[in-house]
Amino acid sequence: MRFIFVASALNLASIASAVVSSSGQTVVVNGISYYASPDPVSIIDATADMLSSSSTSGVDLIPLTVMADTSSSFTTSVFRTLVGNYTASDDVFNTGFLQAIYLNHVGSGPATVKYPLGAALTEYGTKLFMPARAYTSSVESQGYSFTGWRTEVAPGPYFMSALTGELFQAYRLYSDIQGAFTDGLIPSLNGDYSILSAAVPGAQSLTIGVPSRLYYTKTAAQPLAGVRVGVKDIFDIAGVKSSLGNRAYYELYPARTVTASSVQRLIDAGAVIIGKMKTSQFANGETATDDWPWIRHWGSIRNPSQVNGCFGNRPSHGLVPLDGVMPLSPALDTAGFLTRDPLLWHAAAKVLYSTNITSSNYKTFPKKIITSGFPTTATTEAQTVLLAFLSKLETFLGSTSTTALNIPSLWASTTPAAANGDGINDYLNIVYPVLISQQQYSLLTLPFYADYAAANSGKRPFIDPSPLIRWTWGQTNVSASATDEAITNKTVFMEWWQENVVLPSNESCSESILLYPGSLASPTYRNVYRSAPGVPTGFSISRVSNFAEVPDMVFPIGQASYQSTITLQSEMLPVAVDIMVAKGCDGMVFDLAEKLLAAGILGVPKTGSLTF
Ligand SMILES: *[C@@H]1O[C@H](CO)[C@@H](O)[C@H](O)[C@H]1NC(C)=O
Ligand SMILES: *[C@@H]1O[C@H](CO)[C@@H](O)[C@H](O)[C@H]1NC(C)=O
Ligand SMILES: *[C@@H]1O[C@H](CO)[C@@H](O)[C@H](O)[C@H]1NC(C)=O
Ligand SMILES: *[C@@H]1O[C@H](CO)[C@@H](O)[C@H](O)[C@H]1NC(C)=O
Ligand SMILES: *[C@@H]1O[C@H](CO)[C@@H](O)[C@H](O)[C@H]1NC(C)=O
Repeated sequence: MRFIFVASALNLASIASAVVSSSGQTVVVNGISYYASPDPVSIIDATADMLSSSSTSGVDLIPLTVMADTSSSFTTSVFRTLVGNYTASDDVFNTGFLQAIYLNHVGSGPATVKYPLGAALTEYGTKLFMPARAYTSSVESQGYSFTGWRTEVAPGPYFMSALTGELFQAYRLYSDIQGAFTDGLIPSLNGDYSILSAAVPGAQSLTIGVPSRLYYTKTAAQPLAGVRVGVKDIFDIAGVKSSLGNRAYYELYPARTVTASSVQRLIDAGAVIIGKMKTSQFANGETATDDWPWIRHWGSIRNPSQVNGCFGNRPSHGLVPLDGVMPLSPALDTAGFLTRDPLLWHAAAKVLYSTNITSSNYKTFPKKIITSGFPTTATTEAQTVLLAFLSKLETFLGSTSTTALNIPSLWASTTPAAANGDGINDYLNIVYPVLISQQQYSLLTLPFYADYAAANSGKRPFIDPSPLIRWTWGQTNVSASATDEAITNKTVFMEWWQENVVLPSNESCSESILLYPGSLASPTYRNVYRSAPGVPTGFSISRVSNFAEVPDMVFPIGQASYQSTITLQSEMLPVAVDIMVAKGCDGMVFDLAEKLLAAGILGVPKTGSLTF
């Protein structure tokens, strides 16, 4: 149900023949921009008197705070503590919302409660104080005949219509100054999402709205209540179009009607989707320069986690559903989650993997550590951070020996018969580009080209160089049977890996933990042109999880300095390590992160240029 705002400046007669529906309003409270959602969450049960007395001339929306009082006596000191708590725990609330207060007494106090709040209310400029329970005549504050909301609402800041008594949620508006989003989203009452219509002036950026954190309480059923999530624009969200990073694609197709089940799991667990995030076209990885602002994020989970100081997981293949997600290569695709907080990361993983989390299928952590690409002694600050982490992990796991892995030489001495004596780099060289180019071409490109041509007199849409070069190569430089061969080679490698490198174990799920350096604080500047996009051939440690279907998880472990060619000063970048275990042992690595946090070996990185 849509609510029609009747702003005081609107002449009712002039809109009689037009269809006017509100997409919400932008309101400034204490200098901060807010968005009042168009869908009321409740409506007041009060006398008309009260509403008219609360309406300041020209202002239709009254900032209001709903407070839950659990004390037996709501004194000035309880009130101030609550205001302090709201201010500290929520970036949406500010004291401007204390113009009106609705107090819901949920404590076990007497039926008639005293609210000796006069001075405190004056201090915050409170014009309207509405206790839900009867109050004594000796109360110092003003009160009105008021029985409450038709539907009780959670504590927090809201906007109340002075004309209708309807109550609307408050979203704080932020400028997307990093250019990370394609659209700001807001949930509709029917469970779909729609595009946020509000805009904060200045900053030359899109606007993102976030609801008050005070509306949400985490519970067993809603472990992600109020967690704000951005979703890469290759996951469908009902009510919103998907772009896959391509404007022609975005124009061509209508809004999706079904949300990808991975995203739906997050929403069902209480997460709030605040926007769709930029992707390279059709998720074909590339390194961005600042000339082309559409491309901000490259890689999918692992690289953005490594360079931004986040925990992130590429799951074991198949454990998280991919319906409603754009295909790059179904043989390789997975859906993961990145965040700074390892506890939130684990909570989100339990929701995303659902019953596939397999946290309970091991009794102890692995004792065996394998490293790949580690230095033997540290010659840089970042290497010092890396080796210090390794040493603490060895102590934590009670590991006695750490083995350095050399994949090409181990392969050379144990080459599977099916590989016909090929070195590993030759054997796997074109597996990745064959799979992504040929599988994406048949599943996505062909139907997209056909639909686009049908709607545009036979024309082809514009495609960025990176996907175009790969699709062309997959259609002209390799045979049509290359996908089958690539899957054979990938499968041979996967079996070799789990028999020779990281073996499964009944005791610890994975016999060993394999570490490789994720990022070592070396900058990738955006004001430097790189080589033209090409075909991503080759094999390296970062391809192992794609081919062996094993989890590859990023832990931020510290930071190190570098001399910036931009600021001409010493700056800091994150240091990260990647962790791989046997297929299906993802749950054990989330547990490990949590235990390492408790042991002080891992921390929660901060935002900004100093992550630790
Ligand atoms: C304020 O927060 C503290 C710490 O979370 C809590 O102990 C206290 O009960 C809160 N006070 C009120 C009035 O909610
Ligand atoms: C768990 O993984 C299996 C194997 O890929 C998949 O078929 C199943 O749908 C997954 N279960 C859930 C609850 O996601
Ligand atoms: C693909 O084949 C064409 C024509 O034979 C050749 O010019 C081109 O270099 C090849 N592309 C790649 C990436 O190998
Ligand atoms: C698969 O491996 C064979 C070697 O046995 C190699 O000749 C071929 O190019 C590989 N094919 C793909 C698509 O990876
Ligand atoms: C794990 O236990 C099962 C059943 O007891 C057994 O068949 C299997 O070989 C064991 N696997 C390993 C890796 O020890």
